[in-house]
Amino acid sequence: MRLFLDTANIDEIRHAADLGVLAGVTTNPTLIAKEVGVPYRDRVIEIARLVDGPISAECLSRTADELVEEARAIAAWHPNVVVKIPIDEEGLKAIARLSREGIRINTTLIFSTNQALLAATAGATYVSPFVGRLDDIGEDGMALVREIVTIFDRFHIPTQVLAASLRHPRHVVEAAQAGAHIATIPYSVLLSMLKHPLTDIGIERFLSDYQRALTNLGSGATKEGEQTMISGKGTR
Ligand code: E4P
Repeated sequence: MRLFLDTANIDEIRHAADLGVLAGVTTNPTLIAKEVGVPYRDRVIEIARLVDGPISAECLSRTADELVEEARAIAAWHPNVVVKIPIDEEGLKAIARLSREGIRINTTLIFSTNQALLAATAGATYVSPFVGRLDDIGEDGMALVREIVTIFDRFHIPTQVLAASLRHPRHVVEAAQAGAHIATIPYSVLLSMLKHPLTDIGIERFLSDYQRALTNLGSGATKEGEQTMISGKGTR
């Protein structure tokens, strides 16, 4: 399962890219609105120059004709840009037309398996089931991911399942177990995935044990003893 970052914040993206695990980025109008004063196009191009992978940018139009026009313009921003279109009647028509033109579509706001099936049938490259928002209303968001993956696998449907609206590190594990091709996660979740208190304690302990051993060698000891500790090669 590949990891995408769900943000439009350039510092977060730069840091995640530095960690060497970032395969793509998803943005949406809400995330862009947090980046005050940054035009959407400029920010997406900036991200695409930093991250060598799919960068999703969302359409705002509401009719199929307008969506097609807007999506063509967005797709031309950078070769890595994938166009995000919300699933509804107009969106579906636009996805079918754009997919025939070879424009890659990430179908967003997927809340049912049937919506995912329709988007895949129309030729979408990705479908994004929103796990957290289903959990928010008392449903099982990850069950939706599992169901879509099972059906796509059974019929060898090439559309990739992009688990979205993930809110905590356990969601990432469950998305992987469900067979999602991609998990898109907030920066905070990426950082939490890396952390474990026992790892921190373990590192501290290894360092202090090693320091103590050096000190014990200490008095009588000597550069030679220290060298033995470091290299593991005895002098015997
Ligand atoms: C995905 O593409 C969406 O931008 C995102 O995951 C939505 O997450 P939210 O429900 O936390 O806003």
